[in-house]
Amino acid sequence: MTETDTGAGTAAAAVRLRSVRRLYRDVVALDGVDLTVRAGSFVAIMGPSGSGKSTLLQCAAGLDRPTSGSVEVGGTELTGLSERRRTLLRRDLIGFVFQSFNLIPSLSAAQNVALPGRLAGRRPSRAQVRAALRRVGLAERAGHRPGELSGGQQQRVALARALVSRPAVLFGDEPTGALDTTTSRHVLCLLRELVDGEGQTTVLVTHDPVAASYADRVVFLVDGRVESELLRPRAEEVAGRMATLERHTGAVGAGAGAVGR
Ligand SMILES: Nc1ncnc2c1ncn2[C@@H]1O[C@H](COP(=O)(O)OP(=O)(O)O)[C@@H](O)[C@H]1O
Ligand SMILES: [Mg+2]
Repeated sequence: MTETDTGAGTAAAAVRLRSVRRLYRDVVALDGVDLTVRAGSFVAIMGPSGSGKSTLLQCAAGLDRPTSGSVEVGGTELTGLSERRRTLLRRDLIGFVFQSFNLIPSLSAAQNVALPGRLAGRRPSRAQVRAALRRVGLAERAGHRPGELSGGQQQRVALARALVSRPAVLFGDEPTGALDTTTSRHVLCLLRELVDGEGQTTVLVTHDPVAASYADRVVFLVDGRVESELLRPRAEEVAGRMATLERHTGAVGAGAGAVGR
């Protein structure tokens, strides 16, 4: 598929990976990934376990450094930047949510949202914190601690924390992985609304075909390479493709670019 087919060639790129390789000793986690994420789009990354999804996300988000190749976020080339410059850029450009919510239990929702900014010496204003909580539908819960919130509400606080700095790109590594089906759907609807309503570029790693079906585009990784893509994915199609990939990698054996193991 060409870039024009995905619309990536015409509109601004929020994320651009070129020939990205990431080795861990003799393990090839990423083996030459080219990927462009159009600004304002929602992309899901899928693939068998060990196919390099988390490594891809960490490299795209500037949390990890590729062994070779280049990564551009919001028009800025991350490759070759010092650790310090990369940290500063990450703070401005990137929001990240994980499977575990990583909230501080003793702090209120509002304090959790404000914490990364405070630690970085850029405390968000009360109005900004309130706006972030409003965006995730938790305006009424600003004073509540994580223990007083459901799992879905806690993940929405984590989402507000990731969004308060108005990042160019929101990354999520299995953010609905710890949630029950109904709660997971609520969080996915919210992500979709943020994309549609506010143009929030979003890149989501998931193993759930239904979660992937909320995206505009699904990119399938196998052994650290982009194997294929689906546009406007339907859950059944995604599930079918995943089943094929898992059969394939199962048949091959170790898969996952594991060299010499
Ligand atoms: N810190 C690390 N040290 C060594 N190997 C790693 C490390 N992180 C990931 N890997 C390896 O890289 C490959 C891809 O891992 P990962 O990106 O976590 O895959 P996924 O998220 O798709 O399950 C796997 O073979 C994994 O074992
Ligand atoms: Mg992973």
